[in-house]
Amino acid sequence: MPRVTFGQTGNSVELSSGSSLIDLEDTGKSEVPFGCRSAACGTCLIDVESGMSNLGPRTEEEQDLLHDLDMDGDKRRLACQCKIFGDVTITPLN
Ligand code: FES
Repeated sequence: MPRVTFGQTGNSVELSSGSSLIDLEDTGKSEVPFGCRSAACGTCLIDVESGMSNLGPRTEEEQDLLHDLDMDGDKRRLACQCKIFGDVTITPLN
């Protein structure tokens, strides 16, 4: 199963391939805060330190909000919009 490692602490959690990073909340070990869960608030902003190619592509809604927040650098994602297919290391920005 794909492993999510949190860059700041080194803690990690496994999720099923194809699941959403929102499912981190169900593990009780999420270090990413979530708000709206629909690409509207920016609470779940993360930097992807490694494994970007193991995440699904940005959704149109995600792209729009990242642009509006002036946060559309290459490493930036909204965790609530990410599907995971392999190991990643992420750092929450909030
Ligand atoms: S939780 Fe609001 S944008 Fe992801």
